[in-house]
Amino acid sequence: MAIRIIRTGEDPILREISKPVKEINKGIEKLLDDMAETMYDADGIGLAAVQIGVPKRVIVMDVGNGLIELINPEILERHGTQTAVEGCLSLPGIRGEVTRAQRVVVRGLNRKGETVTIDATDLLARCVQHEVDHLDGILFTDYLRPDQIQREKELQR
Ligand code: NI
Repeated sequence: MAIRIIRTGEDPILREISKPVKEINKGIEKLLDDMAETMYDADGIGLAAVQIGVPKRVIVMDVGNGLIELINPEILERHGTQTAVEGCLSLPGIRGEVTRAQRVVVRGLNRKGETVTIDATDLLARCVQHEVDHLDGILFTDYLRPDQIQREKELQR
């Protein structure tokens, strides 16, 4: 396993549309391992492969209940709304309130190639939506007006 560099800010790769994984091989297993290690090292709760420079549809998350790995995740259902302050490892020092679905049903593959369906609520639902957005080149700040984007210096005032 290895800690990888997290792409940040205006890095154009963050705007790429990630490609579906066709075959789960050793390379994908290594990618998943590196993503988890990088996420934990950065104290994050979610990471998309594109954030470490690999535009493949792979995400990892841990909101406190253990590691979840999803390959080719697809959000099948969205229910309700929730609004909370959000950040992103690729946008250090930036926060903002984002409204997202309160509950989502997401389906993907685990590292064994088995189909996994997760019924996620609250923080995990938020995380799923944030990470799947990364796979489509979307950052949370895209949902905000410039005056809704909080920078760390302002937060510390
Ligand atoms: Ni992010």
